[in-house]
Amino acid sequence: MTTLHAEREVITGLLDRAADALRSKFRTALRFETKDAAGRDAVTEADLASERILVAGLHESFPEDAILSEESAAPTASAARTWIVDPLDGTNNFRQGIPLFCISAALWQDARPVLGAIRSVLDDELFLAERGQGASLANQPTRVGPAADIASIRASCDSGVSDEQRARAGRAFARLAPRVRGIRVIGSAALSLAYVACGRFDAYWNAAMLHPWDVAAGVLLVSEAGGRVSRVDGSEVGLEPGTVVASNGRVHDDLLAAIQESRS
Ligand code: 2AM
Ligand code: CA
Repeated sequence: MTTLHAEREVITGLLDRAADALRSKFRTALRFETKDAAGRDAVTEADLASERILVAGLHESFPEDAILSEESAAPTASAARTWIVDPLDGTNNFRQGIPLFCISAALWQDARPVLGAIRSVLDDELFLAERGQGASLANQPTRVGPAADIASIRASCDSGVSDEQRARAGRAFARLAPRVRGIRVIGSAALSLAYVACGRFDAYWNAAMLHPWDVAAGVLLVSEAGGRVSRVDGSEVGLEPGTVVASNGRVHDDLLAAIQESRS
């Protein structure tokens, strides 16, 4: 039984429209700005076009709710319910014409995620989860993968943005690479979390730092699909920036231990 029927309908429709906007700009000449001195963190006109659709549509349908969206950063209001939106996760892939990017939107209520949606754009996949209702991919129930030990996981991880984050990510990679079946760095945290929720990856970690919009939907997808999500120290993931480790649950403690060793 779904309790957030209207919210599901609205966000699904808005994600379709935002995906159309992104698709129309993919592999075209794009205006962009960089957000850091090294030029690694960028925002393009595509991020902004997608964000306008999502923020305006959510505000129109749910005027009482707050909205926290990556490119506008500060919530538009304070409220018990907050929509947390990444209008384009995988911006650097998008800019380079690499088709690995998605849109992430979640509704958090009283500091907990209650609805999460991740929409891949070019292959039209919709991952949805509602608290207590399980996770779905294309309207079919979906579960995390069955890997029983670290040696059999296929994992995704991130490189981070700053030099220090990258050095830390590199240490975690060096520690894990010889011990797992395979690792990918696909450049989208939200898509990685969606893929953990459907068993394409058994685990995902970012040993440096992610923002709330990168993970707000993915944490609910993974937990509703039967997996586990935590910080590197095992604590709960909230809305402050921080590390993230997601897995099918069975390998979680071993994975945390291996990542923690790489940090000491
Ligand atoms: P983005 O594409 O929405 O910017 C890539 O390594 C992953 O890290 C992506 O999910 C990317 O999100 C995210 N990311 C990009 N810049 C970041 C930053 N400054 N801090 C944390 N995460 C970032
Ligand atoms: Ca983004």
